[in-house]
Amino acid sequence: MTVQIITTQPFAEQRPGTSGLRKKVSVFQHPHYLENFVQAIFNSLEDFQGKTLVVGGDGRYYNKTAIRTILQMAAANGFGHVLVGQHGLLSTPAVSAIIRKYQAFGGIVLSASHNPGGPEGDFGIKYNIGNGGPAPEKVTEAIYQHTRVIKEYRISQLPVPDLSMLGHHQLGNMGVEIIDPVADYAQLMKQLFDFEKIKDLFKTGFTLRFDAMHAITGPYAKTILEQQLGAPSGTVMNGEPLEDFGQGHPDPNLTYAHDLVDIMYAEQAPQFGAASDGDGDRNMILGNHFFVTPSDSLAILAANAHLLPGYQQGLRGIARSMPTSAAADRVAERLGIDCYETPTGWKFFGNLLDAGKATLCGEESFGTGSDHVREKDGLWAVLFWLNVLACRRQSVEAIVKEHWAEYGRNYYSRHDYEAIDAGAAQQLMDRLNQQFPHLPGKKFGNYTVETADDFSYIDPMDHSISTKQGLRVLFEGGSRIVFRLSGTGTEGATLRVYLESFEPEVSRQQLDAQVALAELIQIADQLANIQVLTGRDKPSVIT
Ligand code: G1P
Ligand code: ZN
Repeated sequence: MTVQIITTQPFAEQRPGTSGLRKKVSVFQHPHYLENFVQAIFNSLEDFQGKTLVVGGDGRYYNKTAIRTILQMAAANGFGHVLVGQHGLLSTPAVSAIIRKYQAFGGIVLSASHNPGGPEGDFGIKYNIGNGGPAPEKVTEAIYQHTRVIKEYRISQLPVPDLSMLGHHQLGNMGVEIIDPVADYAQLMKQLFDFEKIKDLFKTGFTLRFDAMHAITGPYAKTILEQQLGAPSGTVMNGEPLEDFGQGHPDPNLTYAHDLVDIMYAEQAPQFGAASDGDGDRNMILGNHFFVTPSDSLAILAANAHLLPGYQQGLRGIARSMPTSAAADRVAERLGIDCYETPTGWKFFGNLLDAGKATLCGEESFGTGSDHVREKDGLWAVLFWLNVLACRRQSVEAIVKEHWAEYGRNYYSRHDYEAIDAGAAQQLMDRLNQQFPHLPGKKFGNYTVETADDFSYIDPMDHSISTKQGLRVLFEGGSRIVFRLSGTGTEGATLRVYLESFEPEVSRQQLDAQVALAELIQIADQLANIQVLTGRDKPSVIT
């Protein structure tokens, strides 16, 4: 027999979070650990016999090993076909695009997104459904329930085709198609954006630096930016995907993308700078000596979408996660379209996109995307900006400042306290929550509390309810502080404090965000006793 049925026992806590199952590589290396989870995914699915599965990952350590196992298990479980990226590589948005293009049954993404990789780093596995998006809660819950009772898994003993060999192969009865990881994605981008106009922009000598952070977007950015759009070679930096991301932390923000930040703040800085994360779904946008907050970026993309071929017909709606600033709401209002406020996590956008209620979506955590796929999409956001820059021929800074002048500025910042004690973090949240009934009407310096609540959301399409999505203190005039514990960290707990204030007056829009938000930052500490309870005198990351 080529299919083996292996007896196994459940592992504790194989509960997939908002971004799949994420653990240290060493955890995934326990015998049967990955296999149990993969079998639990398959056990939770129905009617996939003979159908197509898409498989790929961000190239981090353990990617290829996991992919070989998944291929053997997919064959043993009866999938008809697997599409897998050459060398096991596929960015998260590319997986989404490929599932949709080939109408696959679903897909498996191997990644721990922006978390560090390597033998000591993190690994992750996520299941995406046939619309190309992350599995909704009812699916991840079913997977989890299967992990708790699993007794056996099925795996083929046949050898797995060499992942470097493009083309058609067989693994028993299952076809294995090893595909170019970039081609389908690049074709989709060409449909959305005016490549000719962007090429003209580069012909004028326009300068861009794209930092792939030694992660998955290197090959995508080199092909699209340098080969197809004519950006000079060298535009893409850190473009070779490495198993440990060159020992970096592939998270495109001001702290971790410091190579790029140094270049963009140097004397002779390029006109446009951008970076993407481990698996290619996040983006950071910079101008010459200028940082664009992801919340502003979403609003600006929405306000300029009509300039681009893929969005010329207008936006159906905008969706943003609750902690994301309300800058996009103002654009939606002006456009006369709906703006949805969802819990943190891309999966909450899926139903709105599928129902045609939203065209653009974004999160403050450097995630932006549209209905072209069902994941956020880093390079897409960069191409969107490039297309806007090619149309408007202004600097990034000028575009942002014009936007603020027109719509007002939402000063915004997120303060992260990473890897703090999990018990202390929970205590902080509990104590804060207990104060909420007493907060409305209370004055803190210049700010008066309007309401304080624990955010909950009812999905407008399937009416599912998500509770406990973040503690919000809303002040009169549109300022607010939100407190949330991260659902994606792998060490202790991470407290995220989101700060926002609104400034309509142009003459007062030029402050540094930390300066403008100084009073709110102090109020946050006063309310939640952050320094005492976390034992930290400052955040580990400020964005
Ligand atoms: C973080 C971000 C969230 C994003 C998620 C996956 O989750 O805050 O917006 O959807 O990563 O990329 P968190 O760690 O805050 O739960
Ligand atoms: Zn990511």
